[in-house]
Amino acid sequence: MSALAVSDLKRSFGGIKAVAGVSFDVGVKEIVGIIGPNGSGKSTLFNLLSGTIPPSSGTIRLLDKDVTHQPAYRIARQGLGRTFQIPTPFINMTVRENLLAAAVEGEWRSARSRAEEVLAALEISHIADDLASTLSGGQQRLLEFGRVQMRDPQIILLDEVTAGVNPRLRQIILGRVRDLQERGKTFLVIEHDMELVRTICERIIVMDAGEIVFEGTFEEVARNERVVDAYLGRPET
Ligand SMILES: Nc1ncnc2c1ncn2[C@@H]1O[C@H](COP(=O)(O)OP(=O)(O)OP(=O)(O)O)[C@@H](O)[C@H]1O
Ligand SMILES: [Mg+2]
Repeated sequence: MSALAVSDLKRSFGGIKAVAGVSFDVGVKEIVGIIGPNGSGKSTLFNLLSGTIPPSSGTIRLLDKDVTHQPAYRIARQGLGRTFQIPTPFINMTVRENLLAAAVEGEWRSARSRAEEVLAALEISHIADDLASTLSGGQQRLLEFGRVQMRDPQIILLDEVTAGVNPRLRQIILGRVRDLQERGKTFLVIEHDMELVRTICERIIVMDAGEIVFEGTFEEVARNERVVDAYLGRPET
């Protein structure tokens, strides 16, 4: 069984081909990185996978079920969770309340204990009663990552969840990703931090101008001319 199977997925905005025919598979328990220049279509791909916006064409299979054109709430119910590149917590609610608000139907009974588990795992129990508006940017990303865990998704899409996050908080996020992977979860991770990509991603998909231009291990990606030219750059000589 594959966690995610994407076939010839396309989405345009006016004349811009944001996602221009993308196909790939993700196996259960894999951690796959997505890298690429700004505007290469990474977040749009996540918006398509999560049902936030519909594709122009192509198909998406989630845990062997066709979910193409299904609304976001149904895709979420079928086990996909995603974070947003720009976290938008409910700023007038506390950290704990923000977590509880991310739980939905059928999960109320377990939500409280789940929130406590997430708070502890992300080491934010001490700020559980603080208003989200008082959090630092890094803490907001941690909360965004916490919110996605409330529904116990099988497949988790992280959109630059460590951007601007200090090294200690980043370690906490990484530790939690690994824990969840051990418990059978699958990850698709958009990242600009290549050190992080090298550390946790077993496979990397490189996007440029809405297309997948390369796929491979970190070492293969780092050696590929096209990737180096389009994205990584060459060291100064
Ligand atoms: N809702 C939208 N309406 C119009 N254009 C959009 C919309 N969303 C994305 N785009 C365009 O689609 C292209 C891909 O954007 P996207 O946000 O997916 O890139 P990205 O790879 O996530 O970039 P970054 O690394 O900066 O986050 C860009 O040209 C962007 O301007
Ligand atoms: Mg983006």
